Amino acid sequence: MHHFHFVGLNLHCESVDLAEIARLYGTPTYVYSAATMADNYTRIERGLAGLDLQICYAMKANSNLAVLRQFANLGAAFDLVSGGEIRRVLAAGADVRRSVFAGVGKSEPEITLALENGIFAFHVESEPELARLNHVAGRLGVKAPVAIRINPDVDAHTHAKITTGKSDNKFGIPLQAAPAAYVAAAKFPHLTIKGVQMHIGSQLTSVEPFVEAVTKVTPFVEGLKRDYGITYFSIGGGMGIMYQDALASGASAWWDAQPADRRPLTPETYGAALVPLLQPLGLKILLEHGRFMVGNAGVLLTRVEHLKRGAGKNFLIVDAAMNDLVRPAMYDSFHEIVPLHRDSSRRALVADVVGPVCESGDCFAKDRQLQEVGEGEYLALMSAGAYGHAMASRYNTRALPAEVLVSGGNFELINGRETFEQMVANESIPAFLK
Ligand code: LLP
Repeated sequence: MHHFHFVGLNLHCESVDLAEIARLYGTPTYVYSAATMADNYTRIERGLAGLDLQICYAMKANSNLAVLRQFANLGAAFDLVSGGEIRRVLAAGADVRRSVFAGVGKSEPEITLALENGIFAFHVESEPELARLNHVAGRLGVKAPVAIRINPDVDAHTHAKITTGKSDNKFGIPLQAAPAAYVAAAKFPHLTIKGVQMHIGSQLTSVEPFVEAVTKVTPFVEGLKRDYGITYFSIGGGMGIMYQDALASGASAWWDAQPADRRPLTPETYGAALVPLLQPLGLKILLEHGRFMVGNAGVLLTRVEHLKRGAGKNFLIVDAAMNDLVRPAMYDSFHEIVPLHRDSSRRALVADVVGPVCESGDCFAKDRQLQEVGEGEYLALMSAGAYGHAMASRYNTRALPAEVLVSGGNFELINGRETFEQMVANESIPAFLK
Protein backbone atom coordinates (compact mmCIF):
# COMPACT_ATOMS: atom_id res chain seq x y z
CA MET A 1 0.00 0.00 0.00
CA HIS A 2 1.22 3.51 -0.74
CA HIS A 3 0.03 7.10 -0.95
CA PHE A 4 0.23 7.85 -4.69
CA HIS A 5 -3.27 8.09 -6.11
CA PHE A 6 -5.43 10.07 -8.49
CA VAL A 7 -7.56 12.82 -7.05
CA GLY A 8 -9.89 13.57 -9.94
CA LEU A 9 -7.64 13.60 -12.99
CA ASN A 10 -4.40 14.50 -11.26
CA LEU A 11 -1.85 12.19 -9.63
CA HIS A 12 -1.22 13.12 -6.01
CA CYS A 13 1.29 12.11 -3.39
CA GLU A 14 -0.68 12.12 -0.13
CA SER A 15 -2.65 15.41 -0.53
CA VAL A 16 -0.20 17.16 -2.82
CA ASP A 17 -0.72 17.47 -6.56
CA LEU A 18 2.51 16.17 -8.10
CA ALA A 19 2.28 18.59 -11.03
CA GLU A 20 2.62 21.44 -8.53
CA ILE A 21 5.94 19.98 -7.36
CA ALA A 22 7.10 19.48 -10.95
CA ARG A 23 6.27 23.08 -11.84
CA LEU A 24 7.89 24.47 -8.70
CA TYR A 25 11.14 22.51 -8.68
CA GLY A 26 11.44 21.38 -12.29
CA THR A 27 12.20 17.85 -13.43
CA PRO A 28 13.65 15.25 -13.10
CA THR A 29 12.70 15.24 -9.43
CA TYR A 30 12.21 12.40 -6.97
CA VAL A 31 9.19 12.75 -4.70
CA TYR A 32 8.79 10.66 -1.55
CA SER A 33 5.81 10.05 0.70
CA ALA A 34 6.62 10.19 4.42
CA ALA A 35 3.35 8.41 5.22
CA THR A 36 4.23 5.47 2.95
CA MET A 37 7.61 5.06 4.64
CA ALA A 38 5.93 5.12 8.05
CA ASP A 39 3.33 2.62 6.89
CA ASN A 40 5.96 0.24 5.50
CA TYR A 41 8.03 0.46 8.68
CA THR A 42 5.06 -0.10 10.96
CA ARG A 43 3.80 -3.05 8.95
CA ILE A 44 7.16 -4.79 9.24
CA GLU A 45 7.20 -4.09 12.96
CA ARG A 46 3.65 -5.44 13.40
CA GLY A 47 4.13 -8.35 10.98
CA LEU A 48 6.99 -9.63 13.13
CA ALA A 49 5.41 -8.85 16.48
CA GLY A 50 6.48 -11.33 19.13
CA LEU A 51 10.16 -11.10 18.24
CA ASP A 52 12.76 -8.98 19.99
CA LEU A 53 13.27 -6.89 16.85
CA GLN A 54 15.90 -4.36 15.80
CA ILE A 55 15.08 -2.89 12.41
CA CYS A 56 18.21 -1.65 10.66
CA TYR A 57 16.97 0.17 7.56
CA ALA A 58 19.37 -0.63 4.66
CA MET A 59 20.20 2.96 3.91
CA LYS A 60 21.96 2.17 0.64
CA ALA A 61 18.45 2.09 -0.86
CA ASN A 62 17.90 5.77 -0.14
CA SER A 63 20.25 7.71 2.09
CA ASN A 64 18.85 11.23 1.88
CA LEU A 65 19.25 12.83 5.32
CA ALA A 66 15.52 13.56 5.60
CA VAL A 67 14.69 9.93 4.79
CA LEU A 68 17.14 8.77 7.46
CA ARG A 69 15.59 11.15 9.97
CA GLN A 70 12.13 9.86 9.13
CA PHE A 71 13.22 6.27 9.85
CA ALA A 72 15.15 7.31 12.96
CA ASN A 73 12.00 9.03 14.24
CA LEU A 74 10.13 5.78 13.66
CA GLY A 75 12.67 3.95 15.80
CA ALA A 76 14.93 2.48 13.13
CA ALA A 77 18.64 1.88 13.28
CA PHE A 78 20.66 1.48 10.08
CA ASP A 79 22.43 -1.12 8.00
CA LEU A 80 25.31 0.87 6.57
CA VAL A 81 28.13 0.02 4.19
CA SER A 82 30.67 2.84 4.16
CA GLY A 83 32.29 5.62 6.13
CA GLY A 84 30.15 8.00 4.10
CA GLU A 85 27.02 6.26 5.33
CA ILE A 86 28.23 6.47 8.95
CA ARG A 87 28.66 10.20 8.46
CA ARG A 88 25.17 10.44 6.95
CA VAL A 89 23.65 8.73 9.99
CA LEU A 90 25.44 11.23 12.24
CA ALA A 91 24.43 14.15 10.02
CA ALA A 92 20.81 13.04 10.21
CA GLY A 93 21.07 13.19 14.01
CA ALA A 94 20.52 9.44 14.22
CA ASP A 95 22.08 6.62 16.18
CA VAL A 96 25.16 4.70 15.05
CA ARG A 97 25.19 2.68 18.29
CA ARG A 98 22.32 0.47 17.15
CA SER A 99 23.53 0.29 13.55
CA VAL A 100 25.48 -2.43 11.77
CA PHE A 101 28.33 -2.08 9.29
CA ALA A 102 28.25 -4.51 6.33
CA GLY A 103 30.36 -4.94 3.20
CA VAL A 104 33.20 -7.07 1.89
CA GLY A 105 35.91 -4.41 1.92
CA LYS A 106 35.80 -2.08 4.91
CA SER A 107 38.89 0.14 4.98
CA GLU A 108 40.90 0.92 8.13
CA PRO A 109 39.68 4.56 8.27
CA GLU A 110 36.07 3.33 7.93
CA ILE A 111 36.55 0.76 10.71
CA THR A 112 38.11 3.45 12.91
CA LEU A 113 35.19 5.82 12.32
CA ALA A 114 32.70 3.05 13.13
CA LEU A 115 34.49 2.10 16.36
CA GLU A 116 34.84 5.72 17.46
CA ASN A 117 31.09 6.12 17.05
CA GLY A 118 30.22 2.95 18.94
CA ILE A 119 28.89 0.82 16.07
CA PHE A 120 26.56 -1.99 17.22
CA ALA A 121 28.45 -4.61 15.19
CA PHE A 122 30.52 -5.29 12.10
CA HIS A 123 29.08 -7.86 9.71
CA VAL A 124 32.23 -9.70 8.75
CA GLU A 125 32.59 -11.28 5.33
CA SER A 126 35.99 -13.03 5.51
CA GLU A 127 38.79 -14.21 7.79
CA PRO A 128 41.24 -11.51 6.62
CA GLU A 129 38.65 -8.95 7.68
CA LEU A 130 38.64 -10.40 11.22
CA ALA A 131 42.37 -9.77 11.41
CA ARG A 132 41.98 -6.21 10.18
CA LEU A 133 39.19 -5.45 12.66
CA ASN A 134 41.28 -6.91 15.49
CA HIS A 135 44.25 -4.80 14.44
CA VAL A 136 42.32 -1.51 14.31
CA ALA A 137 40.43 -2.20 17.55
CA GLY A 138 43.72 -3.04 19.28
CA ARG A 139 45.23 0.22 18.14
CA LEU A 140 42.26 2.12 19.58
CA GLY A 141 42.32 0.04 22.78
CA VAL A 142 38.75 -1.23 22.30
CA LYS A 143 37.03 -4.46 21.31
CA ALA A 144 35.29 -4.65 17.95
CA PRO A 145 31.81 -6.24 18.10
CA VAL A 146 31.43 -8.76 15.28
CA ALA A 147 28.92 -11.05 13.61
CA ILE A 148 29.98 -13.28 10.75
CA ARG A 149 27.94 -13.28 7.58
CA ILE A 150 27.17 -16.79 6.53
CA ASN A 151 26.27 -17.68 3.00
CA PRO A 152 23.51 -20.30 3.24
CA ASP A 153 23.69 -21.24 -0.47
CA VAL A 154 19.99 -20.73 -1.09
CA ASP A 155 18.57 -19.65 -4.43
CA ALA A 156 16.63 -16.41 -3.94
CA HIS A 157 15.08 -16.65 -7.45
CA THR A 158 15.79 -13.02 -8.19
CA HIS A 159 17.85 -11.07 -10.76
CA ALA A 160 21.40 -12.44 -11.06
CA LYS A 161 22.93 -9.05 -10.17
CA ILE A 162 21.04 -8.83 -6.87
CA THR A 163 21.24 -12.40 -5.61
CA THR A 164 23.77 -12.76 -2.80
CA GLY A 165 23.17 -16.01 -0.93
CA LYS A 166 24.49 -18.52 -3.48
CA SER A 167 27.89 -20.11 -3.06
CA ASP A 168 29.17 -18.43 -6.21
CA ASN A 169 28.52 -14.93 -4.84
CA LYS A 170 31.31 -12.92 -3.23
CA PHE A 171 29.33 -12.55 -0.02
CA GLY A 172 29.71 -14.25 3.33
CA ILE A 173 31.37 -17.43 4.49
CA PRO A 174 29.93 -20.80 3.40
CA LEU A 175 27.99 -22.56 6.13
CA GLN A 176 30.51 -25.44 6.17
CA ALA A 177 33.41 -23.02 6.75
CA ALA A 178 31.57 -20.86 9.30
CA PRO A 179 32.44 -22.91 12.45
CA ALA A 180 36.14 -22.45 11.72
CA ALA A 181 35.61 -18.72 11.17
CA TYR A 182 34.02 -18.41 14.62
CA VAL A 183 36.86 -20.38 16.18
CA ALA A 184 39.27 -17.97 14.51
CA ALA A 185 37.27 -14.92 15.63
CA ALA A 186 37.24 -16.13 19.25
CA LYS A 187 41.05 -16.22 19.28
CA PHE A 188 41.47 -12.53 18.44
CA PRO A 189 41.92 -10.52 21.66
CA HIS A 190 40.28 -7.34 20.35
CA LEU A 191 37.07 -8.88 18.98
CA THR A 192 33.80 -9.65 20.77
CA ILE A 193 31.50 -12.17 19.10
CA LYS A 194 28.01 -10.71 19.20
CA GLY A 195 25.92 -12.39 16.55
CA VAL A 196 25.49 -13.99 13.17
CA GLN A 197 24.18 -12.58 9.91
CA MET A 198 22.90 -13.63 6.50
CA HIS A 199 21.28 -11.94 3.51
CA ILE A 200 20.23 -14.00 0.52
CA GLY A 201 19.30 -11.39 -2.06
CA SER A 202 17.08 -8.51 -2.99
CA GLN A 203 13.60 -8.15 -4.53
CA LEU A 204 12.39 -11.54 -3.30
CA THR A 205 8.75 -12.02 -4.15
CA SER A 206 8.00 -15.17 -2.19
CA VAL A 207 8.66 -16.18 1.38
CA GLU A 208 10.00 -19.66 0.60
CA PRO A 209 13.69 -18.75 0.11
CA PHE A 210 13.65 -16.87 3.44
CA VAL A 211 12.11 -19.90 5.15
CA GLU A 212 14.60 -22.23 3.47
CA ALA A 213 17.57 -20.11 4.54
CA VAL A 214 16.41 -19.65 8.15
CA THR A 215 15.63 -23.37 8.46
CA LYS A 216 19.00 -24.29 7.01
CA VAL A 217 21.07 -22.16 9.36
CA THR A 218 19.02 -22.55 12.55
CA PRO A 219 21.01 -25.51 14.00
CA PHE A 220 24.21 -23.55 13.47
CA VAL A 221 22.75 -20.42 15.09
CA GLU A 222 21.65 -22.48 18.12
CA GLY A 223 25.19 -23.80 18.41
CA LEU A 224 26.61 -20.26 18.33
CA LYS A 225 24.30 -19.21 21.14
CA ARG A 226 25.45 -22.17 23.21
CA ASP A 227 29.17 -21.91 22.43
CA TYR A 228 29.74 -18.17 22.14
CA GLY A 229 26.72 -16.62 23.84
CA ILE A 230 25.69 -14.68 20.74
CA THR A 231 22.82 -12.27 21.34
CA TYR A 232 21.48 -11.64 17.86
CA PHE A 233 20.69 -13.13 14.46
CA SER A 234 20.35 -10.77 11.49
CA ILE A 235 18.30 -12.32 8.72
CA GLY A 236 19.15 -9.49 6.31
CA GLY A 237 16.71 -7.68 4.04
CA GLY A 238 15.39 -8.51 0.61
CA MET A 239 11.60 -8.23 0.76
CA GLY A 240 10.44 -7.35 -2.72
CA ILE A 241 7.93 -4.74 -3.82
CA MET A 242 5.40 -4.46 -6.65
CA TYR A 243 6.79 -2.95 -9.82
CA GLN A 244 3.98 -4.14 -12.11
CA ASP A 245 0.57 -2.77 -11.09
CA ALA A 246 2.44 -0.34 -8.87
CA LEU A 247 -0.20 2.37 -8.98
CA ALA A 248 -3.15 0.05 -8.40
CA SER A 249 -1.37 -1.65 -5.52
CA GLY A 250 -1.70 1.55 -3.49
CA ALA A 251 -5.33 0.73 -2.82
CA SER A 252 -6.58 -1.91 -0.42
CA ALA A 253 -9.28 -2.82 -2.98
CA TRP A 254 -6.54 -4.05 -5.31
CA TRP A 255 -5.12 -6.35 -2.62
CA ASP A 256 -8.55 -7.68 -1.75
CA ALA A 257 -9.15 -8.51 -5.41
CA GLN A 258 -6.04 -10.71 -5.64
CA PRO A 259 -6.53 -14.44 -5.06
CA ALA A 260 -4.95 -15.33 -1.72
CA ASP A 261 -2.35 -17.63 -3.32
CA ARG A 262 -1.29 -14.96 -5.83
CA ARG A 263 -0.86 -12.03 -3.44
CA PRO A 264 2.55 -10.41 -3.51
CA LEU A 265 4.82 -10.94 -0.54
CA THR A 266 3.63 -8.84 2.39
CA PRO A 267 5.11 -8.21 5.83
CA GLU A 268 2.18 -10.19 7.20
CA THR A 269 3.04 -13.30 5.13
CA TYR A 270 6.73 -12.84 5.84
CA GLY A 271 6.08 -12.54 9.57
CA ALA A 272 3.62 -15.42 9.71
CA ALA A 273 6.18 -17.76 8.14
CA LEU A 274 9.26 -16.55 9.98
CA VAL A 275 8.17 -15.64 13.51
CA PRO A 276 7.46 -19.29 14.49
CA LEU A 277 10.92 -20.28 13.20
CA LEU A 278 12.78 -17.42 14.87
CA GLN A 279 11.00 -17.05 18.19
CA PRO A 280 12.33 -20.30 19.73
CA LEU A 281 15.91 -19.09 19.23
CA GLY A 282 15.48 -16.55 22.02
CA LEU A 283 17.74 -14.08 20.23
CA LYS A 284 17.36 -10.49 19.16
CA ILE A 285 16.40 -10.51 15.46
CA LEU A 286 17.83 -7.85 13.18
CA LEU A 287 16.18 -6.97 9.88
CA GLU A 288 17.92 -5.05 7.10
CA HIS A 289 15.18 -4.17 4.64
CA GLY A 290 15.86 -1.30 2.29
CA ARG A 291 13.74 -1.61 -0.83
CA PHE A 292 10.57 -2.56 1.03
CA MET A 293 10.84 0.53 3.25
CA VAL A 294 11.22 3.11 0.49
CA GLY A 295 10.67 1.52 -2.92
CA ASN A 296 6.97 2.25 -3.28
CA ALA A 297 7.33 5.47 -1.29
CA GLY A 298 8.99 7.31 -4.19
CA VAL A 299 8.40 8.32 -7.80
CA LEU A 300 10.58 10.07 -10.33
CA LEU A 301 8.84 12.97 -12.04
CA THR A 302 9.88 13.68 -15.60
CA ARG A 303 8.72 15.95 -18.42
CA VAL A 304 8.11 14.99 -22.03
CA GLU A 305 10.61 16.61 -24.39
CA HIS A 306 9.39 15.20 -27.69
CA LEU A 307 7.29 12.49 -29.20
CA LYS A 308 9.37 11.17 -32.07
CA ARG A 309 7.33 9.07 -34.44
CA GLY A 310 9.52 6.61 -36.28
CA ALA A 311 8.86 3.97 -38.92
CA GLY A 312 6.98 1.35 -36.93
CA LYS A 313 8.25 2.68 -33.62
CA ASN A 314 7.49 5.69 -31.45
CA PHE A 315 9.95 7.20 -29.03
CA LEU A 316 8.75 9.27 -26.14
CA ILE A 317 11.78 11.31 -25.16
CA VAL A 318 11.67 12.50 -21.56
CA ASP A 319 14.01 14.70 -19.53
CA ALA A 320 14.97 11.96 -17.05
CA ALA A 321 17.62 9.50 -18.12
CA MET A 322 19.64 6.47 -17.07
CA ASN A 323 21.86 8.71 -14.97
CA ASP A 324 18.84 9.65 -12.84
CA LEU A 325 17.37 6.13 -12.59
CA VAL A 326 19.75 3.41 -13.73
CA ARG A 327 17.68 0.37 -12.73
CA PRO A 328 16.06 -0.33 -16.14
CA ALA A 329 19.44 -0.09 -17.92
CA MET A 330 21.26 -2.09 -15.25
CA TYR A 331 18.77 -4.77 -14.26
CA ASP A 332 16.17 -4.61 -17.08
CA SER A 333 13.80 -3.55 -14.35
CA PHE A 334 10.21 -2.54 -14.96
CA HIS A 335 8.84 0.76 -13.69
CA GLU A 336 5.24 1.68 -14.32
CA ILE A 337 4.88 5.03 -16.10
CA VAL A 338 1.86 7.17 -15.27
CA PRO A 339 0.86 10.59 -16.67
CA LEU A 340 0.37 13.17 -13.92
CA HIS A 341 -2.80 14.28 -15.68
CA ARG A 342 -4.96 11.50 -16.99
CA ASP A 343 -7.33 12.09 -19.84
CA SER A 344 -9.46 9.25 -21.06
CA SER A 345 -10.39 11.16 -24.22
CA ARG A 346 -6.78 10.86 -25.47
CA ARG A 347 -5.75 8.19 -27.93
CA ALA A 348 -3.50 5.37 -26.80
CA LEU A 349 0.19 5.58 -27.58
CA VAL A 350 2.65 2.71 -27.76
CA ALA A 351 6.20 3.96 -27.43
CA ASP A 352 9.67 3.33 -26.08
CA VAL A 353 10.16 5.79 -23.24
CA VAL A 354 13.75 7.00 -23.47
CA GLY A 355 16.04 9.62 -21.96
CA PRO A 356 18.40 12.08 -23.66
CA VAL A 357 21.64 10.22 -22.80
CA CYS A 358 23.72 9.07 -25.76
CA GLU A 359 23.32 5.32 -25.22
CA SER A 360 20.74 2.86 -26.50
CA GLY A 361 20.54 1.49 -22.97
CA ASP A 362 19.03 4.79 -21.88
CA CYS A 363 15.55 3.38 -22.13
CA PHE A 364 12.98 3.23 -19.33
CA ALA A 365 10.41 1.11 -21.14
CA LYS A 366 10.01 -0.69 -24.47
CA ASP A 367 6.72 -0.65 -26.41
CA ARG A 368 4.87 0.72 -23.42
CA GLN A 369 1.19 1.49 -23.76
CA LEU A 370 0.41 4.98 -22.48
CA GLN A 371 -2.12 7.70 -23.12
CA GLU A 372 -0.90 10.09 -25.80
CA VAL A 373 1.19 12.83 -24.19
CA GLY A 374 2.97 15.79 -25.70
CA GLU A 375 5.84 18.14 -25.05
CA GLY A 376 5.83 19.74 -21.61
CA GLU A 377 3.51 17.20 -20.01
CA TYR A 378 4.61 15.33 -16.92
CA LEU A 379 4.96 11.63 -16.18
CA ALA A 380 5.79 9.69 -13.03
CA LEU A 381 8.06 6.65 -13.00
CA MET A 382 6.60 4.64 -10.17
CA SER A 383 8.32 2.60 -7.44
CA ALA A 384 11.51 4.60 -7.73
CA GLY A 385 12.11 5.35 -4.05
CA ALA A 386 14.71 2.60 -3.59
CA TYR A 387 18.01 2.52 -5.48
CA GLY A 388 16.86 5.51 -7.53
CA HIS A 389 18.54 8.72 -6.42
CA ALA A 390 21.02 6.61 -4.42
CA MET A 391 22.41 5.18 -7.69
CA ALA A 392 22.16 8.38 -9.74
CA SER A 393 25.26 9.67 -11.50
CA ARG A 394 26.36 12.72 -13.45
CA TYR A 395 26.89 10.84 -16.71
CA ASN A 396 26.70 13.20 -19.71
CA THR A 397 27.30 16.03 -17.18
CA ARG A 398 23.71 15.88 -16.12
CA ALA A 399 23.06 17.25 -12.65
CA LEU A 400 21.92 14.93 -9.87
CA PRO A 401 18.13 15.23 -9.65
CA ALA A 402 16.25 17.09 -6.93
CA GLU A 403 14.38 15.34 -4.10
CA VAL A 404 11.18 16.42 -2.36
CA LEU A 405 9.50 14.94 0.71
CA VAL A 406 5.72 15.09 1.11
CA SER A 407 3.86 14.71 4.38
CA GLY A 408 0.09 15.16 4.25
CA GLY A 409 -0.47 18.48 2.52
CA ASN A 410 3.09 19.70 3.18
CA PHE A 411 6.12 19.27 1.01
CA GLU A 412 9.68 20.46 1.12
CA LEU A 413 12.76 20.26 -1.06
CA ILE A 414 15.14 17.86 0.72
CA ASN A 415 17.88 17.95 -1.91
CA GLY A 416 18.20 20.76 -4.38
CA ARG A 417 19.07 20.03 -7.98
CA GLU A 418 22.80 20.14 -8.42
CA THR A 419 24.24 23.19 -10.11
CA PHE A 420 26.97 23.14 -12.77
CA GLU A 421 29.33 24.81 -10.29
CA GLN A 422 28.76 22.03 -7.74
CA MET A 423 29.38 19.41 -10.40
CA VAL A 424 32.81 20.74 -11.33
CA ALA A 425 33.80 22.12 -7.92
CA ASN A 426 36.56 19.54 -7.35
CA GLU A 427 37.94 19.56 -10.86
CA SER A 428 40.96 21.59 -11.92
CA ILE A 429 43.22 22.00 -14.90
CA PRO A 430 46.85 21.10 -14.00
CA ALA A 431 49.55 23.73 -14.40
CA PHE A 432 51.27 21.68 -17.16
CA LEU A 433 48.23 22.09 -19.40
CA LYS A 434 48.00 25.82 -18.95
N1 LLP B 1 21.54 -6.31 3.71
C1 LLP B 1 22.58 -6.54 2.89
C2 LLP B 1 23.76 -7.21 3.42
C3 LLP B 1 22.51 -6.17 1.53
O1 LLP B 1 23.52 -6.43 0.72
C4 LLP B 1 21.34 -5.52 1.04
C5 LLP B 1 21.22 -5.10 -0.36
C6 LLP B 1 20.29 -5.28 1.94
C7 LLP B 1 20.43 -5.69 3.27
C8 LLP B 1 19.03 -4.60 1.53
O2 LLP B 1 18.33 -5.33 0.58
P1 LLP B 1 16.84 -4.90 0.19
O3 LLP B 1 15.98 -5.05 1.41
O4 LLP B 1 16.89 -3.49 -0.26
O5 LLP B 1 16.46 -5.81 -0.89
N2 LLP B 1 20.58 -1.84 -6.57
C9 LLP B 1 19.77 -3.04 -6.63
C10 LLP B 1 19.64 -3.70 -5.29
C11 LLP B 1 20.97 -4.03 -4.63
C12 LLP B 1 20.83 -4.63 -3.26
C13 LLP B 1 22.15 -4.75 -2.59
N3 LLP B 1 22.12 -5.26 -1.25
C14 LLP B 1 18.42 -2.71 -7.25
O6 LLP B 1 18.18 -1.56 -7.61
O7 LLP B 1 17.59 -3.60 -7.43
